[in-house]
Amino acid sequence: MAGLAVNVDHVATLRNARGDVSYPDPVAAAVMVELAGADGIVVHLREDRRHIHDRDLRILRKVVQTKLILEMASTDEMVGIALEVKPDLVTLVPERREELTTEGGLDLIVHKNAIAETVGALQRSGIPVSIFIDPDPDQIKLAHQIDTTMIEIHTGTFCEAKTHNKRNQAFSNIVDAVKLAHKLRMGVNAGHGLCYNTIKFFKGIREIDEFSIGHSIVSRAVLVGIERAVKEMLALIKDL
Ligand code: PXP
Repeated sequence: MAGLAVNVDHVATLRNARGDVSYPDPVAAAVMVELAGADGIVVHLREDRRHIHDRDLRILRKVVQTKLILEMASTDEMVGIALEVKPDLVTLVPERREELTTEGGLDLIVHKNAIAETVGALQRSGIPVSIFIDPDPDQIKLAHQIDTTMIEIHTGTFCEAKTHNKRNQAFSNIVDAVKLAHKLRMGVNAGHGLCYNTIKFFKGIREIDEFSIGHSIVSRAVLVGIERAVKEMLALIKDL
């Protein structure tokens, strides 16, 4: 059965909306997410610190009992922080200041050498690395050459597709990508934009190690509570 790692960035977004208040605390949310049965906690420390702050990451490192996954850009600053904090997994993502959220996978055709250097530096110090890439066989083969522990397949195009045909095509690209990565013996995570409906498409796809889901779970938590929101997603994943 695939695991579920829950991204708590948007708990911090809500906290930061009121400036200098300390609630809701993403650390408290992470504890509750773990108690509800999730397999990991994900945070993205962005260059502009728009949601998760350095303080959040450092406390999370101390309190997370399952697995702490740090999403970050491949920059000297972030590599320095990762080497100090030692998350259980780093997921390398592209980052642009003006974007609302991560908009696509890392382009390894353009950035292969720089990413290989970052992957090497982190993995040599014992931190496994995942690279967030689009479901494109060329990107997957390049990730394999870089010798990264895992990849995370970007599911955003599939989740955002407006027509049946586009959605089916995007999903078929994901399935091919997942199978290729598995064949190349890389771990495979998947995420971005997944919700309580789109997750059901993954029935029978056994090669995915873990889903990384944030916005839909935190959104549902506002209405039904975080424990129920996590448990409902876990039940859907168990049924795949
Ligand atoms: N995976 C990666 C690499 C991401 O950047 C994000 C968004 O932070 C997610 C998964 C989770 O996406 P969502 O919040 O849409 O579930």
